[in-house]
Amino acid sequence: MPIPIIMDCDPGHDDAIALVLAYAAPELELLAVTTSAGNQTIDKTTRNARTILSFLGADIPVARGASRPLFRELIIAPQVHGESGLDGPTLPDPTLPESTLSAVELTAKTIKESPQPVTLVPTGALTNVAALLLSHPELKANIGRISLMGGAAVGGNWTPAAEFNILVDPEAAHIVFNAGIPVTMCGLDVTHKALVTRADTERFRAHGGRVSTMVAELMDFFVRFHEENFELGGSPLHDPCAVAWLIAPEIFSSRRAHVDVECRGALTVGATVVDFEGRNGAVKNVDVVLDLDRNRFIDLLDDALLRLDSQGGAS
Ligand code: BDR
Ligand code: CA
Repeated sequence: MPIPIIMDCDPGHDDAIALVLAYAAPELELLAVTTSAGNQTIDKTTRNARTILSFLGADIPVARGASRPLFRELIIAPQVHGESGLDGPTLPDPTLPESTLSAVELTAKTIKESPQPVTLVPTGALTNVAALLLSHPELKANIGRISLMGGAAVGGNWTPAAEFNILVDPEAAHIVFNAGIPVTMCGLDVTHKALVTRADTERFRAHGGRVSTMVAELMDFFVRFHEENFELGGSPLHDPCAVAWLIAPEIFSSRRAHVDVECRGALTVGATVVDFEGRNGAVKNVDVVLDLDRNRFIDLLDDALLRLDSQGGAS
């Protein structure tokens, strides 16, 4: 039985590849996609989600999320993802329409209609998920798990203490981590090991299919940015980790911990505070993913590209 999932994303290069991986996976059933503001404005991330799904020929409802965090001004990341939020490949205009429902409305409706508990996969700021939990607390029992990209047990990427997605809306993240729903946290600890190199990009491109070529062109832009700004030896493919963990948890390793979010610290706002010891009786509410088999992760992505290339998809 495939795991029913809803993705909440801010495409974004790695979000786009997370959508590709989720759509291709027979282990998952992608029921709906909702958008968050973060890598770019909500107008751009919503268009980008529609563009990618249209490119794949996917008939999946896409709903627009909140245009800003719960209490803060929006931070965007054009230096990472470009002015469009998805700079690099030239993609056709989207044909998939935007839902008339909001992200919260579509998520609530989809969860209510699902005979099985639904897994949420947020790969951006947690604004929409927090708004859903606040407005529909009765649906918590029908959310099987939240597998998210965000945070880190150690350090940050936007400040020394904070990872971007959590920093954009720390109050929303605080609500999500404290909701009593099982959470898998794919933070920087693991995503900085989920590196895609130029050689991997050439492996994708060599397939010559339309989806492989599109992903290789996304990676050209993303790898160049990371080579110019970091010394990681490749480009971290953050968001696909939250999807891949659901498809193949055996290629990852994790430890349970209590995780909460710093919302007030002058230097540490947006930090995920990870307590592997469960001090003072704190409940270990999160599976903190710490490592992965990089080669198997790349193989998983490569298999997904080959599968989609062979299906053709709409152009
Ligand atoms: C996260 O920030 C965004 O730029 C990426 O899409 C990813 O979700 C990594 O910190
Ligand atoms: Ca993202």
